Amino acid sequence: MGDSGRRAAVSWRERFAASRAVRLAVLGACALAIANLAGPERPLDVERRIEALLAQMTLEEKFGQLQQLSGSRPEYLELARRGLLGSTLNARGAATLNELQHAAVDGSRLKIPLLFAFDVIHGYRTVFPIPLGEAASWDPAAAERSAAIAAAEAKAVGLHWTFAPMVDIARDARWGRIAEGAGEDPFLGAAMARARVRGFQGDDYSQPDRVIACAKHWVAYGAAEAGRDYNTTDLSERTLRTVYLPPFKAAVDAGVGTFMSAFNDLNGVPTSGNPFTLTQVLRKEWGFDGVVVSDHESVLELIPHGFAADEADAARQALPAGVDMEMVSRTYATHGPRLVKEGKLAVSAVDEAVRRVLRIKLRAGIFETPYADPARERATLLKPEFREAAREIAARSMVLLKNDRGVLPLPASIVRLAVIGPLADDRRNMMGNWTGDGRKEDVVTVLEGVKAAVSARTQVAHAAGAVVDVKLLAEPEAPDDPAARALLDKALGAARAADAVVLVIGESGGMSGEASSRTSLDLPGRQLELAQKVIATGKPVAVVLMNGRPLSIGWLAAHAPAILEAWFPGTEAGHAVADVLFGKVNPGGKLPVTFPRTVGQVPIYYNYKNTGRPPNEKDNYTSRYLDVHWTPLYPFGHGLSYTEFRLSNLRLGATPISATGTLDVSVDVTNVGQRQGDEVVQLYLQDVVASVTRPVQELKGFQRVAVKPGETRRVAYRVGPQDLGFYDREMKWVVEPGEFRVRVSNSSVGGLTGSFEVR
Ligand code: NOJ
Repeated sequence: MGDSGRRAAVSWRERFAASRAVRLAVLGACALAIANLAGPERPLDVERRIEALLAQMTLEEKFGQLQQLSGSRPEYLELARRGLLGSTLNARGAATLNELQHAAVDGSRLKIPLLFAFDVIHGYRTVFPIPLGEAASWDPAAAERSAAIAAAEAKAVGLHWTFAPMVDIARDARWGRIAEGAGEDPFLGAAMARARVRGFQGDDYSQPDRVIACAKHWVAYGAAEAGRDYNTTDLSERTLRTVYLPPFKAAVDAGVGTFMSAFNDLNGVPTSGNPFTLTQVLRKEWGFDGVVVSDHESVLELIPHGFAADEADAARQALPAGVDMEMVSRTYATHGPRLVKEGKLAVSAVDEAVRRVLRIKLRAGIFETPYADPARERATLLKPEFREAAREIAARSMVLLKNDRGVLPLPASIVRLAVIGPLADDRRNMMGNWTGDGRKEDVVTVLEGVKAAVSARTQVAHAAGAVVDVKLLAEPEAPDDPAARALLDKALGAARAADAVVLVIGESGGMSGEASSRTSLDLPGRQLELAQKVIATGKPVAVVLMNGRPLSIGWLAAHAPAILEAWFPGTEAGHAVADVLFGKVNPGGKLPVTFPRTVGQVPIYYNYKNTGRPPNEKDNYTSRYLDVHWTPLYPFGHGLSYTEFRLSNLRLGATPISATGTLDVSVDVTNVGQRQGDEVVQLYLQDVVASVTRPVQELKGFQRVAVKPGETRRVAYRVGPQDLGFYDREMKWVVEPGEFRVRVSNSSVGGLTGSFEVR
């Protein structure tokens, strides 16, 4: 074809495209008009409105819907007016959000509102315990309640979407983000994921007090090699499906609106460009029809992964793999239209991603209610009942690790009490990481909470004793550092003059969370020395730990009379800690994660496999260490109470059962102590011999029950195929015949055992 022929063909194509665009626009406008008449959203209306909008959009506007940018720069107003922005993260407050929204709704051609997202992880203004702590409550209803309050506050400031829950399983305490999830177990993790999605979204996330949830980070991000954040993950498909996927599946089943693709490389394919996880599993197997947003620049990061050659290549791979919206980096918006025109990216894939974004915008009701109401913001944040809930949930999340000779609870009438430790009166660190709009001036410290709880005649002394905010990479201070010595001496003076000591130590809030991995699980700085010297005074000492991960506290476990794991409890930290210290609340939390003796045991988790040479005390050539016992310091599920419980009468229903049948299991729990308390009764199963090796035990049921002194309550479970099955060699879910062991217990060690048969 000559030049003139080519020109004619081009101009014919242009004319056709232009007239097609006009036809589509007219069609779209009609459909939109009809759809807008239809009233409240029914799925059909949503789908019709999506098609109506899509038909009118230019390619650039389509990519605009797939762009999420951070903050609220003047540039975004212009982008919003031109229809080139779909969403923001980190912008907040009614005034800021409304200005952006007006640009999109009044200024843009198609008037598509923006979606405003934020990391509301464990509260927005009222801060709840970190998610790892909340999981220690083993109380999904508590997690649902805190998420619902967080949603109400977030929605009141104009936010529509939270990047939570984080449902990554973490078996490695070095990984700082273990603080943000529910710990090491897929069953507990799934229960918490379901509860938190329900709490954020309710039945309908368009309600004025609900937001869209986001299950993250898809997927296996918590399996980072060496516990170093963002690091490579390499797992078998069986481990992926058995351990890492269940909380995500639970989130999908609970109706989660969005997913976030992760940073990590999974088995050689980065998770933000991974068609197997993003499309095959999530869309095809699970039928998820919501939005997948990338993590922060994780599409662009396909380049340093060595998976994409340049930005255009990153966009070309991530979008069809299944990442609908790009967070912060702009590879889609910059290169997408050209890639489509060059035939390198199918417009059908772009349309599908746009449909999903429009779908959640329509379902969220933001076309009808795009703006935030500043009066609502003022009326909603930090309501007294929200603070009350934060106090209750924080107390419910605490785990009594040790309590020798009944040191706890302390009598409120105690005459001289010393509250010692760098975290005792530290407003900022008590909230942990990802604190939303949590403000330190709102926080009740432990010192304040204790002062409010004791009798009028109690004298409360306070000394920090050491520093928690130490630079972990710096050289340790010289042992004779005068400032450190003075801090320590003051604390020891206070301890010696007291009848009892509350010692509040642990990590700073910033030592866990994103990019906060550690190689040591020891108490940072000179806190162990402080604890050793305070305990050496011989006074009754109750250690209160605040931390975002399991710590290696072997010395404390051996020598401290009492240890209360408080995690980072949030806004009401001090009241909640005092409620437990003085016995107003009897602690009932259990560890959602194994505490190792030393970092050298990591990864350590309760649902391990046996090996051919299970460790034992006598035989040398067994799977153990030369220098440390193989067992953990505190096992998964461990937690004491101020009362004592006895389990009895383990009863199993008729056995054998068929592979599709169910088995009823029940047990009696009796409070044999003097105080009312909660026990978390846990059910574990083991498939003894199978065609692929199975863990020594897996949690398959739990109930937190309140029992009065002298009372006995019956706790019942029904075990079915979903509890008995596993992925076989062909990766099919099967229940194989044979013997199963069952254990009902108050931790992953001990308890009552039985067995049954599947035939
Ligand atoms: C990066 C984190 O990995 C993710 O969890 C978070 O939601 C985004 N940044 C947005 O802040």
